[in-house]
Formats: sequence, structure tokens, C-alpha cells
Amino acid sequence: MSADKTTGFATRAIHYGYEPQDEQGALTPPVHLTSTFTFDSAEQGAAIFAGEEAGHFYSRISNPTVELLEKRMAALEGAEAALGFASGMGAITALMWSILRPGDELITDTTLYGCTYAFFHHGLAEFGIRVRHVDLSDPTNLEGAISDRTKVVYFETPANPTMDLVDIQAVATIAQKHGARVAVDNTYATPVNTRPIELGADFVVHSATKYLGGHGDLVAGVLVGSAEDMASIRLTGLKDYTGAVMSPFTAFLLMRGLKTLEVRMERQSKNAMAVARWLEAQPGVERVHYPGLESFPQHELAKRQMTGFSAIMAFDINGGVEAGQSLMNNLNLIRRAVSLGDTESLIQHPASMTHSVLSPEERAEHGIHDDLVRLSVGLETCADIVADLEQAFARLDQSMQAA
Ligand SMILES: Cc1ncc(COP(=O)(O)O)c(C=O)c1O
Repeated sequence: MSADKTTGFATRAIHYGYEPQDEQGALTPPVHLTSTFTFDSAEQGAAIFAGEEAGHFYSRISNPTVELLEKRMAALEGAEAALGFASGMGAITALMWSILRPGDELITDTTLYGCTYAFFHHGLAEFGIRVRHVDLSDPTNLEGAISDRTKVVYFETPANPTMDLVDIQAVATIAQKHGARVAVDNTYATPVNTRPIELGADFVVHSATKYLGGHGDLVAGVLVGSAEDMASIRLTGLKDYTGAVMSPFTAFLLMRGLKTLEVRMERQSKNAMAVARWLEAQPGVERVHYPGLESFPQHELAKRQMTGFSAIMAFDINGGVEAGQSLMNNLNLIRRAVSLGDTESLIQHPASMTHSVLSPEERAEHGIHDDLVRLSVGLETCADIVADLEQAFARLDQSMQAA
């Protein structure tokens, strides 16, 4: 085998789980665009269904192309197994429907991606699951809040959109003492920068739509964990409760994205660091939230837990929503769009876009202020990204002075 779990990250991302000689020498793994699989005999079909013989039978349960992606993702996250989903929300909902029951409690951080927040509050809570927010930026808060009812502790690190971090190891140690499972949304950091399973988490979820795909051309999700958990969730959350299965073609595109994940992350993080420093020096910017900056309150944790700082940041702009919207409208190169982690730099306003599903009171409670702007720095030439921001701020200053 040309790549095992001892080989480097990029080698695993490019080769893991595939040998060309198994597929007539094809360098690139084939895409198995098939919904169903034929059996040699009725007896063989029965044996595969019963789990007595390995094999695929229907692509909502498993598919060879998706299976290769799953193996590769597990190898990159340092986990035993993974599952592919139609979207990040597919992965999150399938996980929760599989492991929570009415009467259970879910403890989650104060800041969450808007649709995850909506699912917890309007989905799970309606089915008898108690959802509690605890500020996990200080893990001792969990010690005071956790109880025997707590089945899952869920958080994003960095969190969308405030960039707040959570000390995974500290939270996992407390959760384990109380028998709760820990699930980490690793979308922002990616396994290049943080590997939660190695720090004690039970599950990792990804919006693979973002950095893993990396090119803004797909929607996908991945769930990572133990072989036992993944086998069980494959037959419950994936197969029956959501049916949110990943298409083989999406798995192919995702594997293409994964091949360059490490180099993209390195270059994008370098661009982001330069942009964050530039933004920090602007009088029109009140604060830049980026884990790589020394001014970031959790910079020490970022250095300890992350091998790189990723390329998303948020900033508070003087002049509130209006100034933020004018700035966005002044941009020529940076695209006004939600999503993140693409080769293109993307900018959005969380309060009116990704987090508009939260009420104004909920947003205030969760640190998503109206003057917060989120920027995902892309792979364009760094000087061009800065130049675009520079001209947008200059025009903003002119319009503010004129007003
Ligand atoms: C941190 C985070 N988690 C989960 C999701 C949901 O993923 P998807 O849009 O792929 O369903 C998103 C989407 O933006 C996200 O930013």
C-alpha cells in the first residue's frame, strides 16, 4: 500500500485507500455512479444484507467512491472511521438523531453556526431534548453545568462567526468524567490545523462544503468517529433518519479538493495573517477577531491547539451595519457571498445573512453583533486582496466624511 496511516498528511490526502492496479491502472479513482449493486446469487444478497459478507447493496447505505472518501477523511482526522453526507447539516442532524433520546440534555457553546442553532432549538428541542448554552471558552463553566442527563457536549472551534476557541482536551476530560460524548465542528480549522479526536473528542463534523472541497462547487458533510459509532450511525442517522447521503460524484470532487488541502491551508493562512494585520491597523476597524493575532484573547490556546490559524476572520467596523454594508458594496475583487474556505475571498454580514435565523435578542446573547463582518480570505494574490480592501475603505471614508 502506497500510503498508510504513518505517512504524512499530504501523502494520505492524495493516496490513502487506493491502489491504481485495483482499477486497471487508473491514476484517479473511478466514480461509481450507481444506485444499486447486483448479487451473484440470492444467497449472496442475503449474506450481504445480514452483514455476514462484505459488499455494497444500495448507495444510500454505502458506495465504493463514497467509501474511499470516508477512509481518507478518517485517516486525515486520526480516527477509525467516517461517513459522508449530503451536507454539513446532514452530518450534524444524523449524528444528533442517532445519539440523543427524549429527556437527554445537549450542552452547546454560546456561539454556533445559525442553522445548527436553529436545528438544536427548533428541531431537537421540539422532540424533548433539553438544549443548554454554556460558555465553553472557559472549560470550568462546563464543570458547573454538566449532569447525568448530559449526553452530548457540542461546539465549534473556531466558532462561526466570532472565531472564539474552545480547549478541546479540557472539555473532553470533563465530559468523559460525566459519561457525555464530545462532538466538535472542525469546519473552520480542518484536520490540517486541529485534530479533535486526538485531543479526546468522540465525533468530528464537517461542512465539507468549505475548505475540504475548497473550490465552491459542492455541498457536502462528513462525520468522523469510532468504527463502532460510524457503523451504527450508517444504519440509523444516515440510512433511515435523514437519508442525507453523499453523491458519488460529490465524493469524487471532495477527494480532488483534499489532494491540495494542506497547501491551500498554508497559503490561505499566510494571506489571512497579512490581511488581519492590515485590518488591525485601520482606524475604521474597531477589532479584528483572528486567532493568529497576538491581540486575540485566546491566542495562546490557538498556538497550543492549532498548527495554523486558518483563513477566516471577523471584524467590527466603526459605523455599524451601514458602514459594513457600504464597505461590502465597495469591494470589487472580494465576493459578497456566504460560505467560506473557497479559493475566492468571500465577505458576508452574519447578522443579516448566515445568522439571520436567530432573533436580534438571540444574536446579542451569542455575541453576533450588527457591526460584525466576516471575511474568508482566499487564494488570490495577497496584495490584490489588500488593495481591494484599501480602496473600499478609502471610498467608505469619503462617503462618511460627505455624510
Ligand atoms: C461551522 C459550520 N458548520 C456547519 C455548517 C453547515 O454545513 P452545510 O452548509 O454544508 O450544510 C456550516 C455552514 O456554513 C458551518 O459554517
